[in-house]
Amino acid sequence: MKIQIIYCHPSQKSYTYEILEQVKSTLVKEELEFEVSDLYAMNFQTDMSEEEYEREGLVNLDLSIPHDVKEEHQKIEAADCIIFIYPVWWSDCPAKLKGWFDRVYSVGYAYGYDEQAGTIQPMKTIPYGVVICTAGHPNEFLDEIGIAESMRNVMIDDRLGKRFTKKEMIILGGTLNKEDVRLRHIETVKEVGEKIKTYCS
Ligand SMILES: Cc1cc2nc3c(=O)[nH]c(=O)nc-3n(C[C@H](O)[C@H](O)[C@H](O)COP(=O)(O)O)c2cc1C
Repeated sequence: MKIQIIYCHPSQKSYTYEILEQVKSTLVKEELEFEVSDLYAMNFQTDMSEEEYEREGLVNLDLSIPHDVKEEHQKIEAADCIIFIYPVWWSDCPAKLKGWFDRVYSVGYAYGYDEQAGTIQPMKTIPYGVVICTAGHPNEFLDEIGIAESMRNVMIDDRLGKRFTKKEMIILGGTLNKEDVRLRHIETVKEVGEKIKTYCS
């Protein structure tokens, strides 16, 4: 079983990095194999080029897929589970992760596959997708103002969508008062290893 972590935060001093480390130690304890794509550390290019736009927007499948995008496709193909870890910035993921979706979810791969064309490898269905995001606001407030639901709609229903069989979003809210939430967050993260074993075996 192979787990791919897509991690997006610029600083190792962050609370989100602490959560990444916690997820990693949970996976190690459960003896689960994983790989981390650290989008900032990789300096992953997240602006779409004009040529890429022409491929995507005009559905010109004759244009080639950039090498760095193909590498991400290979990681997806090898994965039984993908864990996205990021901080909530302006009620969504950071722009860098949004750009990962813009470029990596390419036409003919993650959507719009034309079976008649036959030459393109469509994205497989992955057994389990988990979105773990840290948020300054407490969960209750994000629920109350409708932002938790809108984040779930976008990440779970649209971006993970039918590409994942089982999927869930874990919002680790209240990080403005870290000492109040840390232990609860760690307990929540610890459950992820068990869930992976259940859904991916
Ligand atoms: C640019 C920026 C935008 C943010 N927007 C939100 C937001 O819309 N909602 C929210 O609950 N927290 C927001 N936060 C707070 C972060 O979610 C919080 O800092 C993070 O989850 C945990 O801190 P970390 O950066 O140490 O990992 C924002 C923080 C930054 C830096």
